This record gives sequence, C-alpha cells and structure tokens, in this order.
Amino acid sequence: MIAELSNPSVFMRDPQRVEDILKAMQKAGSNTIQVISDFDMTLTRFAYNGKRCPTCHNILDNSKLISEECKLKLQELLDTYYPIEIDSSRSIEEKLPLMVEWWTRAHELLVQQKIKKDMMATAVRESDAMLREGYQLFFDRLNEHSIPLLIFSAGIGDVLEEVIRQEKVFHPNVKVVSNYMDFDETGVLRAFKGELIHIYNKREGALLNTDHFQALRARHNVLLLGDSLGDLTMADGVQDMENILKIGFLNDKVEERKQSYLNSYDIVLVKDETLDVANSIVLHLTGSK
Ligand code: C5P
Ligand code: MG
Repeated sequence: MIAELSNPSVFMRDPQRVEDILKAMQKAGSNTIQVISDFDMTLTRFAYNGKRCPTCHNILDNSKLISEECKLKLQELLDTYYPIEIDSSRSIEEKLPLMVEWWTRAHELLVQQKIKKDMMATAVRESDAMLREGYQLFFDRLNEHSIPLLIFSAGIGDVLEEVIRQEKVFHPNVKVVSNYMDFDETGVLRAFKGELIHIYNKREGALLNTDHFQALRARHNVLLLGDSLGDLTMADGVQDMENILKIGFLNDKVEERKQSYLNSYDIVLVKDETLDVANSIVLHLTGSK
C-alpha cells in the first residue's frame, strides 16, 4: 500500500494490522488525526557519518556554557546511566529510580553553571544537533494540513524549541511538553520548572495536559513516534481514541531490543536516520503522493 513500508529498515510484527489501521485512518480523514512525537533520537538523528548526534541535554553539556570540570561530571553521568537506559535485561521498574537520579543530578549540575538565557541560541547554533532527514517535509506538511503535532520530550524544552526555530519548522501547529528552564530576573538559570519529565513518566505528563487533549478530542486517530519504550505512553491522555499507529526508531543495541520493540511498536525502524516512512504515511493520510 505504501512503498516505503518495504524499505530494508522497516520491520513489522503484523503488517496486515498496520494496513488495517492506515485504511481506517485514511477513511476518517486528516481532520481526525493528531501526531504525538518524542524529540531526542526520534525527530533528531542518532548518528551522522558514524558519529553520535547530541540530545537536548548533550547540546548544553558540550557547549561553551559549561566549565571543563562540569563537562567531565556530566560525561560521567552519561557513561553511567545511558547504558542503563538501553539495557534490555533490566525492567522499567528497576530503571525508573535510576533515571530520576540521572535527570536530577544532571539538572543540578546545569543549574550550578549559571547558564544565561541569551546564550542558548548560540549554544544550539554551535552544536552538532541535527533533525532527521526529511524533517522539512514532515513539519511543513503537518502544518499545511493543520494537523496538531505534540512534541513530548524528556529533554529540555528551551533547547528543543531553539533547534526547531533555527530550522524554521516551529510552526503554529506545534505544541511542546518538556522540561523548561526557570531563569531569574537577570536571565540566569536558577531551576527547572514544574514536574520533572523523564523517559518513564510520560504517562503522568500526558495526564497533566488534559486541556490540550480536550481541545483535540475530535481527533480520534493518533500517529505516535518514539525511540524508547517509555514513549509508548505519550498518548495516554488522548480522549476517545479510535486508532493509534506507533512507529518506533530502534537506534542502538538492535539485536537485544528488537523483539521487545516489535512487540510494542507497530512499525519498527532499525537504524533508519530518515523520516521517510513517517512522511510517506503522512502523505498517504493527507491524500496525495
Ligand atoms: O526527547 P526525549 O524524551 O527522547 O529525551 C530524553 C533523552 O535524553 C533520553 O533518551 C536520554 O538518553 C537523554 N538524556 C541525556 N542527558 C541527561 C538525561 C537524558 O542525554 N542528563
Ligand atoms: Mg527519545
């Protein structure tokens, strides 16, 4: 039905089910669709030319805004906790408190660095952050068809917004739910606002955004994009859901994690640095090639 679903990076547990969901969603029409996407390593690239690309946190970690001493500490945290994040031999229950520990310790270090708000744009500009190939088509097409895009990220909202602003795709249909920085009256970072969002509490985060989902209650059909099993709960706040198609990017530890991704995501994209599959689905659902 969609040629890109035959790409070598595409794996599906049940291709017929994917076809059925797509048929139902196409029939219902593009005004019944909402898109919910994770940010880091879902809308952004995992690697480019064999080199890892940064997450929102890494953009700051590697920037001039952080002292050399603090960089070492943040790197140590990454080296300790990232392997735990992607360890398929540990349960989510086991990983959850460790993830909270990672985010909390990293945010404490960032606050100690007295980061200035007016330096954020430069930090993003000088970083290696990259949205996935095909991002313009993805963002522009959704906006042209007034399809709401919720970017739901355990990264840093201020950084994420700057990335999409600099790429000129922060369109009016985009809403961001993430960890936002709290700057004092002189523009210096003093804390992070609100409840912490980490990779395993997106469900709770979704349930806090009832107003957003209430406003979109006529959009019963959801396209979900993520790269972590924690991202599967991002749509838990959606009201009166009829169909959901879940697309998962499997970037790292492929063999160990493939089966669990196939069990949870309808479409699994293995080491695929593009938004080609998502774009072909959006084109299909919005009615032209
Ligand atoms: O946007 P998303 O929800 O994917 O952001 C979470 C990602 O941020 C995690 O996958 C994690 O690897 C990364 N992270 C990081 N540094 C931290 C905390 C999280 O790079 N201090
Ligand atoms: Mg992610």
